[in-house]
Amino acid sequence: MTTKILPPRLGSYNVAEEWMEGETFNWERVHPVFTWYESGKVNMSYECVDRHVDEGKGDKIALHYFSENEEETYTYEELQREVNRWSNVLKDHGVTKGDFVFVFLPKHPHCHIAMLAAIKIGAVVGPLFEAFMEEAVKDRINDCEGEFLITNSKFLDRVNRPEIPSLKTVFTTDLEASGSDISITKEAKEADDQAETVWVDLDDGLNIHYTSGSTGKPKGIIHAHRNMIQQYQTGRWVLDLKEDDVYWCTAHPGWVTGTVYGVFAPLLNGVTTVIHGSRFSADSWYQVLEQAQVSVWYSAPTAFRMLMANGDKTLEKYDLSSLRHVLSVGEPLNPEVIYWGEKALDLRIHDTWWMTETGAQLVANLPTRTIKPGSMGRPIPGIEVTVLDEEGDELPAGETGHLAIKSSWPSLMKEVWKNEEKFKSYFPYGEKWYIAGDLAYLDEEGYVFFQGRSDDMINSSGERIGPFEVESKLIEHEAVKEVGVIGKPDPVRGEIVKAFIALNEGYEESAELLEEIRLFVRSGLAAHAAPKEIEVVDELPKTQISGKVLRRELKKRDKAG
Ligand code: WTA
Repeated sequence: MTTKILPPRLGSYNVAEEWMEGETFNWERVHPVFTWYESGKVNMSYECVDRHVDEGKGDKIALHYFSENEEETYTYEELQREVNRWSNVLKDHGVTKGDFVFVFLPKHPHCHIAMLAAIKIGAVVGPLFEAFMEEAVKDRINDCEGEFLITNSKFLDRVNRPEIPSLKTVFTTDLEASGSDISITKEAKEADDQAETVWVDLDDGLNIHYTSGSTGKPKGIIHAHRNMIQQYQTGRWVLDLKEDDVYWCTAHPGWVTGTVYGVFAPLLNGVTTVIHGSRFSADSWYQVLEQAQVSVWYSAPTAFRMLMANGDKTLEKYDLSSLRHVLSVGEPLNPEVIYWGEKALDLRIHDTWWMTETGAQLVANLPTRTIKPGSMGRPIPGIEVTVLDEEGDELPAGETGHLAIKSSWPSLMKEVWKNEEKFKSYFPYGEKWYIAGDLAYLDEEGYVFFQGRSDDMINSSGERIGPFEVESKLIEHEAVKEVGVIGKPDPVRGEIVKAFIALNEGYEESAELLEEIRLFVRSGLAAHAAPKEIEVVDELPKTQISGKVLRRELKKRDKAG
């Protein structure tokens, strides 16, 4: 396919008002937007909710929720009152500044309210992905010895309390809670709708997201309130959010995109956020776009590919004329998808790049810039990007190496929980360059072309999966002797999880056994982590000295067929 470039379309873009192409951007220019500019004391929840009420925008719709049979809205003022009530309940039950409060809820306003209420009183919020099963939940809460959890009775089945000894208090959103659990919705009804904001420092902890690399269990990436500077500003520049926008980010807050660009950035910008609670189907998604009159839409390549595969017939039933800006994140965005977007939606799809660790977008196709399909775009204002070779030397345009970002920027992670060594591993060539773990090249104009990962991390449908976590689960199955897990290229999902296993003596390969093993991971960890393919081998390739399974070798073999 020949790649064509897509020039920007005419329109009024936020970025053009604040930054001129070629100019260096100083992030301090954003500070006066915020309430803390003079006091120095900050709170994300305040800036997301209360500030808008104080500025007279309390009547504006903050959240617009849809599911199959429900629709609900909250104005900024209603959201403020609800957040206040919930934060009073949390406070009454002992939550204080710096405590970890895990939130394990479906896509629903309760999830937003729980997060904002915990943050309002200075707690560090840990959103858990809605599809996590027992082991995934347990490992994460145990790692940072979380004491508080907000969930519902349905999800509680996946919380193995005896194995999470640090857990002191469980709040549920059901109107009746069982045992010693607390119904946060019931108590909130009685609680005061005024609440004190706990003012914290810019560098105090805000949220923790567990994320995978190629080795070890997921690591807790901690971000600080300071992030709001870049999250607000990328909301303006990249998402191009304006006063009257209705914005929909399709990610669950358990993934960093769902927290930063599903909760924080849109609320910081004071727009209307759409929350959609049903499972993916082309019809229900188009329906949300139409019914909520979505103007800015942030989703992921797998979803676009599924919509594309679904064909124009479904699309034609809906009026999507409210849409003006579409964005993508999480995995490579194929040029075909961009061309589909041009044809089907009559809009360019803007790719964006960032990571859990970076806290906000760093590379993007700004609305004012030309898009080169196949490229993730260029660094946003204030960010400098290069590509380094193995020695840490900069490579010329066109040569592939390690994607590196000049440190620091406002939303860079504050720490990796209790793992200083891991934090340092992002800076192997010294403090100057943050190394993403992605391989890429730049063209002469500084456009970044993603080429893959330098480690074994798997990216399936934009979800980051650590092979080690899957291998650890697989090895617990009685039939499994040895295991190696890799990402296998897939036309729709980008990659799928593939496991190679050697069986213990006494076990024979059969379709039933493999299905049982797959379900074992699915029900223990999460559906997206369960291997879609399992191949039984006599022996796995290993390093001579340490006997570590060579995933790279498995990848090569898999390709060779
Ligand atoms: C990958 C998601 C290609 C990349 C926000 C990165 C991408 C990892 C893109 C981070 C993109 C993210 N094109 N690959 N536009 N965006 N990635 O932490 O490998 O879940 O390192 O954050 O996703 O995944 P994470």
